[in-house]
Amino acid sequence: MIETRGLSKSFGGIQAVSNCTFALKDHAITGLIGPNGSGKTTLFNLITGFIPPDRGEIYFKGKRIDGLLPHEVAIGGIVRTFQITRVLPRMTVMENMLIAPPRQTGEKFRSLWFNPKTIRKEERENRKKALELIDLVGLSHLKDQFAQNLSYGQQKLLELARGLMANPSMILLDEPTAGINPIMIRTIMELITKMKEWGMVFFIIEHNMDVIIELCGWIFVLDNGEKIAEGRPKEIQNNPRVIEAYLGI
Ligand SMILES: Nc1ncnc2c1ncn2[C@@H]1O[C@H](COP(=O)(O)OP(=O)(O)O)[C@@H](O)[C@H]1O
Ligand SMILES: [Mg+2]
Repeated sequence: MIETRGLSKSFGGIQAVSNCTFALKDHAITGLIGPNGSGKTTLFNLITGFIPPDRGEIYFKGKRIDGLLPHEVAIGGIVRTFQITRVLPRMTVMENMLIAPPRQTGEKFRSLWFNPKTIRKEERENRKKALELIDLVGLSHLKDQFAQNLSYGQQKLLELARGLMANPSMILLDEPTAGINPIMIRTIMELITKMKEWGMVFFIIEHNMDVIIELCGWIFVLDNGEKIAEGRPKEIQNNPRVIEAYLGI
C-alpha cells in the first residue's frame, strides 16, 4: 500500500532518514524496527505529512501523497498514533473522539448557514460511531472522564480509537506498547489482531521483539536512517547486520 522512493530528511547535520526506498507488501501487519534514533518516527512523520521530505517520493495505493498535509493524508486513509500520546488532557474521552473526524460539514461556515439538518444528523452519527469505537477499545466506562485521568495505556487506546473516526484503511502505530504494563500490552495486541481480521492494515514501530515476532508478517529495519534489512520475522532475527545494529558488535 505504502511505497517510498529515495526518501531523505535531515535536521541540521543529522541525516534522520537517508535515501529510503521500500514497498509495503501485502501483509496485514508490517513492522518497522531499529535502534533509538535510527529514524523510525521521522519516517512516520514523513509518510503522514507532519514534516516534508528533503528528497524522495511517497505513494499510497499508487497515488502520490508527499506534499499533502496531515489531515489530507488522514482523509486519504492513513492515520497514526504518536510515540508520546497526544490526547487532549482536559477534554473528556467522548470530547476527544468528537474533535477528530475530518471533513465535518459543520466546520464550513457556509454549510452552517445552509444545512443545519445535515449537521445535526452528522453530529448524531459521529456520536454513535464514537461510542462504538470507545466500546471497541474497552473504554466505555470512562467515556465521561477527562483524558488526563486515564492511564497511559488507556490514553494510547483512546488515541487509536480517535484515529479510527477517520475510517482509515491503514494505521501507523508508533511504539504502541512502550511504557505500558503487560496486561495492557495484551489488550492492545488483541485489539490489533481483531482489527486485522476485519481487514485493517497496520505499519507498526515497535521495540518489543516478542510483539514484533508475534504480529508482523514482514519487517523493515532502519539503522542511521538507512534501511539495512527487510524480511520475515525469523529471517530478521537471525540477520547478522540486524544483530550488529542492535548489539553494537
Ligand atoms: N524535529 C527534529 N529536529 C531535530 N532533530 C530531529 C527531529 N526529529 C528527529 N530528529 C533526529 O533525527 C534522528 C532520528 O530520530 P527519530 O526519527 O525520532 O528516531 P527513532 O524514532 O528511530 O528513535 C535522531 O537523531 C533525532 O534526534
Ligand atoms: Mg521514535
